[in-house]
Amino acid sequence: MDPAALQQENAALRRMWEQHPAEHLDTYLVAGIEDPRLNIQSILTRALLADSLFPGRFEALINEELRFGVVLTWLHEQLAADANRDALRDAICYEKAAHLPAVITDAARWLETDACPLVHYLELALDPPPESAPDQLMPERALNVFAEVWQRELAGLTAPRLAVLEVACGSANDYRAIHACGLAPFLDYTGLDISAKNIANALARFPGVAFRAGSILDSGLPAGAFDVVCAHDLLEHLSAAGGATALAEMVRLARREVWLHLFNTKPDGAHEIVPRESYHWNLHSRTALLADGRALGCAADLIELAPLLQHKFAFAGHPNPRAATLLLKKSAPRSAL
Ligand SMILES: C[S@@+](CC[C@H](N)C(=O)[O-])C[C@H]1O[C@@H](n2cnc3c(N)ncnc32)[C@H](O)[C@@H]1O
Repeated sequence: MDPAALQQENAALRRMWEQHPAEHLDTYLVAGIEDPRLNIQSILTRALLADSLFPGRFEALINEELRFGVVLTWLHEQLAADANRDALRDAICYEKAAHLPAVITDAARWLETDACPLVHYLELALDPPPESAPDQLMPERALNVFAEVWQRELAGLTAPRLAVLEVACGSANDYRAIHACGLAPFLDYTGLDISAKNIANALARFPGVAFRAGSILDSGLPAGAFDVVCAHDLLEHLSAAGGATALAEMVRLARREVWLHLFNTKPDGAHEIVPRESYHWNLHSRTALLADGRALGCAADLIELAPLLQHKFAFAGHPNPRAATLLLKKSAPRSAL
């Protein structure tokens, strides 16, 4: 990327994200259905971390947590649309209504069986919010169910530590859930974000963690410094040249894998790079993303969220049918990197 254009883009991105007050940055992407405890792509990141550390061991738990994400996201949407809590409880727990998605009734039935090791998170989620937080649609103890399960499951296990770089880490948005579920001690985690306000927020929560301000366009980090490099919702906001630079840089920094979550994709064609204010709001092509990854020497795969949930839970109502995750594997270290 042309160095002047790169500096211009960094300055514009910094301005764009720094315009928000620190308190807003700290909260706005971890609330409602963006909450990483519910968000399917956040659950996927934690699943990929757990599976990298303990291959195959947690397949069943990962599926349970994905279902939890689907179920609580659906419930959150009902509550946000002012659905009556008691009527929902009757419908879900006592099957007093038709037309609930099968994933909801199946989950409720499973949670009621003696064989189910989980607390009945649907019942917990339907409890009224505490008086101290009337705007919170679901109680914390419902949202924290899987953090507690993971903590129990991971306690006492050992594995070689995984060096992870999270680009666009925000105010430790995903790291909060990574930490809460007990994955952090298995990681050498670094968070990178262009907004100094985000990094200050992240460090206020986690003083000892390597959160650093910087841009993925010119990170200055050494090649192959991390086993895994991941990002949520970054490419959507970069120029064409910026996106290509960011992807190449993530591949350069990764020894093994890059996981790139996007909230806005289309099946094929060219990427649609759409300037908005001083950043972008892009629509990426899934076939072009795969081609981009392969052109960087990686084995590339793509998870489309809506079909994944349809396949796993026969659920067709994912709130973001355009979300997809690009998975890149570096088959062998390349001398050019
Ligand atoms: C849409 S937010 C996503 C935040 C977080 N990943 C999440 O999903 O909640 C995009 C984030 O990318 C950061 N960002 C934008 N451009 C960047 C760049 N070039 N390098 C590093 N971070 C960047 C912003 O500061 C912001 O925190």
